[in-house]
Amino acid sequence: MAMIELSHIAHTYEPTAVTPAYALEKLNLVWNDGGTYALLGPSGCGKTTMLNIISGLVRPSQGRVLFDHVDFTDFPTPKRNIAQVFQFPVVYTLMSVEDNLAFPLICRHVPKAERQRRVREVAELLNLTDKLSKPALKLAADEKQLISLGRGLVRNDVTALLMDEPLTVIDPQMKFEIRRKLKKINELYALTMVYVTHDQTEAMTFADTIVVMNEGKVVQIGTPQDLYNRPQTTYVGYFVGSPAMNFIKCTIDDGKLQIAGGAIPVPPGLSIPAGTENLQLGIRPSNVKLGTSRCEQSLRGTVQRVQEFGNYRVVTVAVKDELLRLKLAPGAEIPALDTWVVLPEDRICLYADDELLAQK
Ligand SMILES: Nc1ncnc2c1ncn2[C@@H]1O[C@H](COP(=O)(O)OP(=O)(O)OP(=O)(O)O)[C@@H](O)[C@H]1O
Ligand SMILES: [Mg+2]
Repeated sequence: MAMIELSHIAHTYEPTAVTPAYALEKLNLVWNDGGTYALLGPSGCGKTTMLNIISGLVRPSQGRVLFDHVDFTDFPTPKRNIAQVFQFPVVYTLMSVEDNLAFPLICRHVPKAERQRRVREVAELLNLTDKLSKPALKLAADEKQLISLGRGLVRNDVTALLMDEPLTVIDPQMKFEIRRKLKKINELYALTMVYVTHDQTEAMTFADTIVVMNEGKVVQIGTPQDLYNRPQTTYVGYFVGSPAMNFIKCTIDDGKLQIAGGAIPVPPGLSIPAGTENLQLGIRPSNVKLGTSRCEQSLRGTVQRVQEFGNYRVVTVAVKDELLRLKLAPGAEIPALDTWVVLPEDRICLYADDELLAQK
């Protein structure tokens, strides 16, 4: 297990091009020893490239890869001692499940008794015990992926376990179970884990720290709560949370936020530099409330639509030319048409040119 540091890393797959496109733009990133991380972002943003740079499958165009402060950039993959699990299972179909799981240990000359103990432990964890003697060929796709995962877990000497959308072929209930088990493994062995996904729910439920990427850049690093409460950019506000954060254009005039035909107080502690333009107010749908009468924080609106999701409802309210979404409890009372929407000031984030403004 180790701390992994990406120092001034950048990568292009077309190094000889006149103006090469960068799959990863210059970045510095530290993965702490024993942490659980999710690497979250849309298709093509550079997640796999970053993982492959850590494992050594891709050599970065620029920068260094350090494990516990030692430079591993020029070390080949086997020397890095990284366990990597890919999107689709990689199994030796002619071997039994047991031999598949034992293979990384056989390669490292682990004594037989110890090998068997570890294989059994991992098989137990992944519900593979009664399949140990079966040929891997006979297994379904999700069971094969469990073997790939098991091969990563069976070694206790790895620097880190890197997983690239590993649960794509696994059904939702099993996915939930495996994520829970991965967390347990992290608690037991303090293994550094990086889990790549473009699914925010997977990221939020698995990781202590989420690294959000977009177009080759890291746009925010934080806990699930940080990303939910204080998205650093409007992009993160849209990408994380369901439904997405509400964004409404606003200006500051008369010491108030002028917004959708109304005016509400500027949240305290906000420093808004002179000449700031393209202001937007951001608020999570779960933080907007319905009111029965005017108050300092309210705006007049009209209910447009109610969507039922079973354990919550989403209400869309038109406020002048803007649409605001509210996430309410299933039994919440909803006015037939005209209403007040309340934007509590401690829940408001303000963005200038899509970047969050600092608040004391
Ligand atoms: N071997 C390659 N040769 C050339 N370009 C590549 C190669 N691998 C990836 N790219 C490009 O680099 C960029 C980042 O790709 P990458 O596979 O790292 O993204 P990703 O976030 O893992 O996407 P996905 O969610 O679809 O797996 C993309 O524009 C992709 O087309
Ligand atoms: Mg990928």
